[in-house]
Amino acid sequence: MNRRELLTSLAVALGPVPWLACPTVARAQGAQVGGTTPPVNVLEFEPMARQRLSRSVWDYISQGAADEITLRRNREAFDALRLRPRVLTDVSKLDTRLELLGQKLDFPILLAPVAAQGRIHSGAEPEAARGASAAGATFIISTFSTTRLEDIARAARGRAWFQLYVNRDRGATRDLVQRAEVAGCTALLITVDTPVNPMRDREKRLGVQRPYTGQSSGGRVSPIYSDALEPTLTWETVAWIRSFAKTPVLLKGILDPDDARRAASEGLAGVVVSNHGGRNLDTTPATIDALPPIIEAAQGRLTILLDGGIRRGTDVVKAIALGAHAVLIGRPYVWGLAVDGAAGVQRVIDILRDELEAAMALCGAPSLDRINRQLVWPER
Ligand code: FNR
Ligand code: LAC
Repeated sequence: MNRRELLTSLAVALGPVPWLACPTVARAQGAQVGGTTPPVNVLEFEPMARQRLSRSVWDYISQGAADEITLRRNREAFDALRLRPRVLTDVSKLDTRLELLGQKLDFPILLAPVAAQGRIHSGAEPEAARGASAAGATFIISTFSTTRLEDIARAARGRAWFQLYVNRDRGATRDLVQRAEVAGCTALLITVDTPVNPMRDREKRLGVQRPYTGQSSGGRVSPIYSDALEPTLTWETVAWIRSFAKTPVLLKGILDPDDARRAASEGLAGVVVSNHGGRNLDTTPATIDALPPIIEAAQGRLTILLDGGIRRGTDVVKAIALGAHAVLIGRPYVWGLAVDGAAGVQRVIDILRDELEAAMALCGAPSLDRINRQLVWPER
């Protein structure tokens, strides 16, 4: 007997099986794209997106640095963690809401900054931001967006943050931060893990053009330097930005607890535990493995976000169980954008949200504050 036959016979025996008609299933069924089987999970968007994009765009999105060890590790580490559910808790009402930096969010999943979305969909970032807004998620606008940040912020309808790549031109950097504030971005993420161009073999092989250009260095012309990246970025630069920024400032790309401790003592609002989705320095740990010592170092003084390899609702539960306040997703929403524009982005978020709710209920944790360290099986 296959699954369908089993369900049908159950329906005969017990009356209608309610979850056959639940909104989650209806939403996924309505998601038919181009006559193919609708994706039932986020991972199924990946091959569909690949089909729709050119080889070079596909490689730009999906690649990691060098041997892509960190890229793989991000996923392997989530898969290796085992959940330890509790039973006999009333989960008839689930609450995924949280307050982050004084902002109310309906669920703990934000959209990570992703450069150059005009390559992925003709509607570019505003298309993705519309999908985020329809799903109720916050969209983080990349410095290297294809479209003007004001247009993206408008499409995000009040749920936008800004990601800053500090420019060598300090006046231009300041202008950008202030434009983002005027456009309504309510937090600023300074990306601190990319002072130079990372070494990505797939880009080299295919001659993929980065969304940013330029090279310079003393003596030999090194391909690691870029006019759009700032190799002199230090804690002093961060302090300077904080001196005029009007919104909370977070550092994106933290892996070491000492850097988190320093961020807290410098008065930053938070950090994003991130290895840039495995795209920058290869052989770093998975972010979920880097998280616990950072939580310990921060001692409650920082808002802590995490990204890299989040593909399932259970991954979100694991990140929160180990101390993150919320997570970001990068590639998954890009796949949604490639497959079905704003609707695809919305669907990716909806699926993750449904999976998060199911995981919380099945873990016996009806609200985010009930997700704690005890839900992850201890190491042997
Ligand atoms: C990124 N990321 C990124 N980060 C950033 O701070 N500024 C940026 O402009 C970009 N651009 C970018 C482009 C593409 C195509 C990808 C895939 C990623 C990194 C991103 O914000 C995030 O850290 C990772 O994508 C998270 O990992 P997952 O969810 O993609 O596994
Ligand atoms: C990247 C840069 C733009 O990851 O952050 O491609």
